[in-house]
Amino acid sequence: MAPSGPTATLIYDDWYPAMRASEIRNRKTARAMLLGIPLVLGRKSDGRYFAMRDSCPHRGIPLSYGWFDGEQVTCKYHGWAFEPVSGQCREIPSLTERDSLDPCKIYANAFPCEERDGHVWVYVPQRGRGRLPRPSPTEGLERGTQITSQQDATRPADNLPSVPEVPKFSQRFHSAYLTADLPCNIDHGIIGLMDPAHGPFVHQAWWWRSQASIHEKEKHFEPIEQGFRMSAHQPSANSAPYKLLGVYGQAITTTIDFVLPNRRYEIIRAGEKWFASLTTVTPTVENHCRIDVCAAWNVFMNVPFLTPIAKVFGRRFVEQDQLTMIQQAEGLKYNPSLMLIDDADRPAKWYFELKQARLESQATGQPMRHPMDGPVVLHWRS
Ligand code: FES
Ligand SMILES: [Fe+2]
Repeated sequence: MAPSGPTATLIYDDWYPAMRASEIRNRKTARAMLLGIPLVLGRKSDGRYFAMRDSCPHRGIPLSYGWFDGEQVTCKYHGWAFEPVSGQCREIPSLTERDSLDPCKIYANAFPCEERDGHVWVYVPQRGRGRLPRPSPTEGLERGTQITSQQDATRPADNLPSVPEVPKFSQRFHSAYLTADLPCNIDHGIIGLMDPAHGPFVHQAWWWRSQASIHEKEKHFEPIEQGFRMSAHQPSANSAPYKLLGVYGQAITTTIDFVLPNRRYEIIRAGEKWFASLTTVTPTVENHCRIDVCAAWNVFMNVPFLTPIAKVFGRRFVEQDQLTMIQQAEGLKYNPSLMLIDDADRPAKWYFELKQARLESQATGQPMRHPMDGPVVLHWRS
């Protein structure tokens, strides 16, 4: 897929899904690109996941060309061995008794890394953060290639934001996962994610909704931390899947939250029954992003084959968005001027304002100001 359009500013100091945990095999490393950073990922014998910059601090060869024995990652060039969770160098084979260099004072860049919902999430600090002592919550996270203090290495990553996950409301549930690559910058990927007006056109299908069912809607929004919420409401009467949920005869409420940098949470609840999803759009390489949808539910628990059937429909839905963005990328190549209109594009405007506010707060160290000062009602036809 050809990349297109201008690049977007990225938001650092947050968690992003790098890859599926199932793609990581025992004693093997895997590679991923996240915010333009090449990563080498793996899982140690004790079960901990790790993510290092895929670059040896000695001469820069990707560490993924080396070896991993379940404990240490060894560079293929001169055999430096690293403990991959901390990035700490444990061995430099060329050293003799005469050398005073302590390998343990050398670090490869290692990122905090956690598994949730089958994703391997990686915390990506601002580039260069943590190389120098500074009073910042991310201090010491992305360790520089220079010699740093031992104390730096052992600092726990406690004050990081919690790792995102799909909200769940019961012990038993089904879950499913979908992904698609999008050949556009992160901003287009995200405003596509929150766009209410494309549904009847991009997703027209007998089982979803048709253009003929377009009608005026009133939606209530409110500011939440780092984002906004489309407040609880009865979901669109013209959406077949929601009608199916109605068999439980309970009032159905839906909330959709957008939270920086890239998350859309949707929660549908009807009494004890629930469906929840977390969709993220993650920058991979320049002008490309990847959409990941993780869903969990406890509706129709006893219907056989429901998960594969839901996946077929879900996949078609995501592919419709993907195809549209591939086509959009064709247009964006020529850098056209674009528009955001009221009210249907107001969520997109909030996204840009939120992002700006977050970047400003990161630059100044001041608390983030929220662009919305209270609840807002929007109207559109979809
Ligand atoms: S380049 Fe990795 S050990 Fe020399
Ligand atoms: Fe869509």
